[in-house]
Amino acid sequence: MRFALSDSSALAVRRLLIAGLLLCRAGLAIAHDDPKHAASAPVLVDDKEIYKPTPLPDRIILSWTGDTAHTQAVTWRTDATIAEGVAEIAESEGSPQFVSRAERVKATSEVLKSDAGAAHYHTVNFENLKPATRYAYRVGDSVNWSEWFQFTTASEQPEPFSFVYFGDAQNIIRSLWSRVVREAFYDAPRARFMIHAGDLINSGDHDSEWGEWFHAGGWLNAMIPNICTPGNHEYKRASQESKLSDHWRPQFALPTNGPEGLEETVYSLDFQGLRIISLNSNESQERQTEWLDKTLADNPNRWTVVTFHHPVYSTAQGRDNTELRRWWKPVFDKYRVDLVLQGHDHTYSRTGLDVPDEIVGTENVPAGVTAKSSEGGTVYVVSVSGPKMYEVYRQPYMKRAGENLQLYQIIHVDGERLSYEARTATGELYDAFTLVKRPNARNELIEQVPETPESLPSQEKDS
Ligand SMILES: [Fe+2]
Repeated sequence: MRFALSDSSALAVRRLLIAGLLLCRAGLAIAHDDPKHAASAPVLVDDKEIYKPTPLPDRIILSWTGDTAHTQAVTWRTDATIAEGVAEIAESEGSPQFVSRAERVKATSEVLKSDAGAAHYHTVNFENLKPATRYAYRVGDSVNWSEWFQFTTASEQPEPFSFVYFGDAQNIIRSLWSRVVREAFYDAPRARFMIHAGDLINSGDHDSEWGEWFHAGGWLNAMIPNICTPGNHEYKRASQESKLSDHWRPQFALPTNGPEGLEETVYSLDFQGLRIISLNSNESQERQTEWLDKTLADNPNRWTVVTFHHPVYSTAQGRDNTELRRWWKPVFDKYRVDLVLQGHDHTYSRTGLDVPDEIVGTENVPAGVTAKSSEGGTVYVVSVSGPKMYEVYRQPYMKRAGENLQLYQIIHVDGERLSYEARTATGELYDAFTLVKRPNARNELIEQVPETPESLPSQEKDS
């Protein structure tokens, strides 16, 4: 049976359809504005979510507590459900069969309570290792494991090697520091360790900033040992006292051969003919002087590098650290320390062998007075790897200076020669020199500064 609509009925139906369509559109428009339906809008994921610990090992990092030829320490993090950590280690080889020879070592574990809640940090110090030998290891809880990583122990003899040095990473670490540490790896993939001269992060007790730092280094930290010295940003103010970040000791296994109370911030390590000394420029500088003197007096290594955070020669006006020149510089001079690697001033500066005992233009030496130059022959470097940028107060003793550049440095030690290069975040050579050992005399310094002009935008602005 068919129904025929009259003209007026057909018109009414058409009007109903149009009204329905309009209602539908209005409904869609309402639905679009309704926050319940806005599921596709991006939402910022909270840092605490991104970096929260799980039962799986993360923040895996190699360091040394002492003997670099026979031991290797590794530290990692899990959530608080993993009470006991274990590691496995074997001499590595091309065949995957090395896993059948792996020995198991129990970790020491400790709780760290931070703004992200409780996490467990586990440390194993592999001991009785063979020198100059490639090992494979993994960490976990005997059920959940990391991948196998590899490292090589130091030779007992002086042998050629390279290492990397970074100034402050500190800010916007995941976003803008990552490219620097990775570019350094491109240039020195066989570097034997990485030195971080303080201010690795901005707020020492914000767990997510450490999360960013570990994310940037990623698996490199599990393959290349790290030597870290604390900056002022690894210190927090607890009432009147300044206190080292709670993260420092649980997450880095560093030597405890420094003065009492300053362990794992003041220490020395020897690596294939090089003594590396970390000083803590944040506290008790005077108390470290005697230890420094003793450590340098009894030093069989051909080369000596000292690292700490605050510069002996600040690159900025109003940031001078006179105490460091007063206490430590005479000791560097006395023992002819080769190289001092620093941070803090968020610029680049590198001296020659002739450096003043005092900086002209400070409260100690008014402008117009000539500062006396000492005979130590130490080269002092200030550098920066993160994106926070300051201005340089250019001084005549600086052989190369720079602003507005993220940099990394690769240092190569080979017998009588130590060669140094600073490169920008894009891998461009910014500074270079070579030191040559001379018996009972200052080093010879061979300048190899590239032709490119210094990056000093603040001085272009002023002129
Ligand atoms: Fe600093």
